[in-house]
Amino acid sequence: MKIARTFAELPQPAGSVGLVPTMGAFHAGHLALFEAARAENDTVVASLFVNPAQFGEGEDLDRYPRDEERDARLAEEAGVDVLFAPSADEMYPEGFATWVDVGELGEKLEGEFRPGHFRGVATVCLKLFNIVRPDRAYFGQKDAQQAAVVKQLVRDLNLDLEIRVVPTVRDDDGLALSSRNEYLSREERETALALPKALWTGRDAFLTGSDPVKEASHLLHNLDVDYFDVADLNGQKVLAAAVRIGKTRLIDNVILEGEPK
Ligand code: PAJ
Repeated sequence: MKIARTFAELPQPAGSVGLVPTMGAFHAGHLALFEAARAENDTVVASLFVNPAQFGEGEDLDRYPRDEERDARLAEEAGVDVLFAPSADEMYPEGFATWVDVGELGEKLEGEFRPGHFRGVATVCLKLFNIVRPDRAYFGQKDAQQAAVVKQLVRDLNLDLEIRVVPTVRDDDGLALSSRNEYLSREERETALALPKALWTGRDAFLTGSDPVKEASHLLHNLDVDYFDVADLNGQKVLAAAVRIGKTRLIDNVILEGEPK
């Protein structure tokens, strides 16, 4: 596996290219994306960049888990051909001034609690698409709104690539894998299990014609809830939640209906 730190160091790819954008701290969720990319492309490029532009003031940019050596090993084992790990200066050189405004889709749910978050995500993804020129790029259903925002970006700006969305990978206890799970103490992790339970209970309620929020929100009473809501993400109906446990903020969702367009 080649590690490239600058655009100039990226090799000319052979054949079709699959891109997996990441911020590192790899877990089985990231590995599922690598596997999906490996299955349908000649060359797999993973990017590893903790994108400052998508973190708000007071968020966890400084303490976001970083272990590039471990990530490089895991990526190589998963069949990644190129790991693109640029510096912040490479991505946002002095004078950088152009941003992608993602509109209404980026203002609800996560967007309401993390203003500017999807502007940062969309901008870095567009840059990565332009730099790597993939045929396909891979995103996780775990971040359903992000996947929908990226699909909208591709459609609105006529980008010539396909977006693939990979199902959420969960631990045996049901908690969706996330780099931020590393922040949880054992006790907090136990408390966090209410999140998938509430989502599943809500989905069951929806399937029997009841209101998922009414039927399941009591399960989150021990958590500090930013939102627990049914939302339409460009045609995919999800039950989505963000909760805080101590200093850790976790998001998760289940699909109620449909696929994103
Ligand atoms: P990061 O949180 O590292 O996630 C990288 C990709 O892995 C995202 O598409 C995310 O949805 C997916 N992912 C994370 N946990 C997952 C899980 N449990 N199951 C399936 N997929 C999972 O998301 C980002 O980075 C950034 O916002 C990024 C897109 C790289 C832009 O900076």
